[in-house]
Amino acid sequence: MKFEPISGPLKGTLQVPGDKSISHRSVMFGSLARGITEVSGFLNSADCLSTIDCFRKMGIEIETDPSAARVRVHGKGILGLSAPASTLDCGNSGTTTRLISGILAGQPFHSRLTGDDSIKKRPMKRVIDPLTAMGASIRSEKGNGCAPLLIAPAHLHGIEYHSPVASAQVKSCVLLAGLYADRMTTVVEPSLSRNHTELMLKGFGADVRSDGCRASILPNPDLHGIRVSVPGDISSAAYFIAAALLVPGSEVLLPNVGINPTRDGILEVIKNMGGSIEVLNEKESGGERSADLLVRAQKLHGCRIGGALIPRLIDELPIIAVLAANAGGTTVITDAGELRVKESDRLEAIVTSLRAMGADVTGTEDGMIIRGGRPLTGALIDSRMDHRIAMSFAVASLIADGPTTIRDAGCVTISYPEFYRDLASLIRA
Ligand code: S3P
Repeated sequence: MKFEPISGPLKGTLQVPGDKSISHRSVMFGSLARGITEVSGFLNSADCLSTIDCFRKMGIEIETDPSAARVRVHGKGILGLSAPASTLDCGNSGTTTRLISGILAGQPFHSRLTGDDSIKKRPMKRVIDPLTAMGASIRSEKGNGCAPLLIAPAHLHGIEYHSPVASAQVKSCVLLAGLYADRMTTVVEPSLSRNHTELMLKGFGADVRSDGCRASILPNPDLHGIRVSVPGDISSAAYFIAAALLVPGSEVLLPNVGINPTRDGILEVIKNMGGSIEVLNEKESGGERSADLLVRAQKLHGCRIGGALIPRLIDELPIIAVLAANAGGTTVITDAGELRVKESDRLEAIVTSLRAMGADVTGTEDGMIIRGGRPLTGALIDSRMDHRIAMSFAVASLIADGPTTIRDAGCVTISYPEFYRDLASLIRA
């Protein structure tokens, strides 16, 4: 797909679609709850549809109304799933694969989980190890630590797991297996990852306790269906935040964006880069905070990004790197080795793509050094079928000199099917 630089500012109001992490969880936990869970603001993207498909295969009735972003889950309780007649296909979704593994480990039936070529390369040892320590029977079919995964019935024990990575997918997997364990299960992570699982499971009636980087769950709760109102996804809003900051004269209002403190690292980075975003009309639903974000074009300067901030902006690093390439001075990103095992090796993808556009970037083992301020030129960008790479470089193309072509730009359907339409609406507004 070809992208031309734009001549005028971005203007207008845009409601970004629902949060992907929260949408996945609403279907999963709704399936494990007794009665009906009504979800509004649900993200109808390929990843979330993979989750719906998996639970339908396990006998859960799920009604969808994509035009209204509504989903109705007819949950059957934590012991209500039935054996799937065929392999569960998680598509491109790491969240689906890892969270469902935890649920399947506690089921009285056999199951097989797989996904697309990207999923089959992503590390699943990080969930196989703790689940095995709980007594689960789970193995990688090919013995390479990746999907397909084979899971068999087993008796689970509660454990205290010290995770080597700050990963909400690992934490959530272990906590979900903990629903089926014989005593309390605890996960301790090196720094706090997104806490949607803890917040939402509590809403469904589970006994979840959180204290800093430590989260515990008691087994055998009676989960009951609830209403879930999904806020806009800050990871999707990030592209418009960046576009509005970068394109001179822009002013964009993004209503109802989730600003859970475990997800709002991009707002902190923009502050550290000397920018200011107005956070208006803050509210809360189901423990999840949201607000309207008003963004105006501004000159930014480089900063350091690392440590405990990384899990709070892990999916935003590609677009933050685009911002840094256009900021004055140097930005140093460290502690971001996790980006190598996302939908693509995002560290490699960012460095290669920014360089192709003329930016001064040096890759490091766990991050990069970006010497900002060089004007970007249009280039050929390979999305690597990674939605966040495609969207980040579509934004970069707006301010580049000359046209940019993004290969496999259609992969945005993973998290944001209408991304290009929404971006165009701000250009024409
Ligand atoms: C997610 C957690 C993050 C994030 C992913 C969604 C989740 O992954 O990158 O897009 O919904 O729990 P990790 O927890 O593996 O870092």
